Amino acid sequence: MTLRIGDTAPDFTIDTTEGPINFHDWAKGSWVFFFSHPADYTPVCTTEMGRTSQLAPEFEKRNVKPLGLSTDSVDAHKGWINDINETQNTVLEFPIVADKELEVAQKYDMIHPNESATATVRSVFIIDPNQKIRLIMTYPMTVGRNFNEILRVIEALQTTDREEVACPADWTPGDSVIIRPNVSDEDAKEKFPQGWKTVKPYLRLTDIK
Ligand code: BEZ
Repeated sequence: MTLRIGDTAPDFTIDTTEGPINFHDWAKGSWVFFFSHPADYTPVCTTEMGRTSQLAPEFEKRNVKPLGLSTDSVDAHKGWINDINETQNTVLEFPIVADKELEVAQKYDMIHPNESATATVRSVFIIDPNQKIRLIMTYPMTVGRNFNEILRVIEALQTTDREEVACPADWTPGDSVIIRPNVSDEDAKEKFPQGWKTVKPYLRLTDIK
């Protein structure tokens, strides 16, 4: 199934390390960082799981629930979590889906057959509290994800929703934002009383709190 930005995140009910979950019920009211990894007891995945766990307070601050997935069993996940906690100095508390039958992986197009017929690639779905997919990224098996970027893009999405603006390249919180091209100067005066800098008529920068 091909999923696109703006689609409703497909629902599923499945076993995880925290017991069975129904995805839509579990996610209700939160943002979700849903990510797959190729397999338990593998080195890159161990660092990614450790990093996600270490960043738990950062995810919580942004109202984001992490949810991992691979095609291993709950027992395998649980054994591996001991290694993650030991080697990455953390206590992993977010659920990891045990997708033995590839049911969720197929719904989310996490199996890329020319990479592996059975293992999931490193997919990322950022899902908003309305359960809409807001970002899709896919990383290969041999390259770990950049978790600063994951936090940054979540913060950017939340900022664009809240302020009805857009974020320029390499934006980080505190940087100027872009007034959307569909907002006239007249409307911008009301919306952004703090003013803005017109670099080009289509590129207007403003600062927000
Ligand atoms: C890893 O997580 O380390 C990994 C998984 C599959 C292929 C290569 C590396």
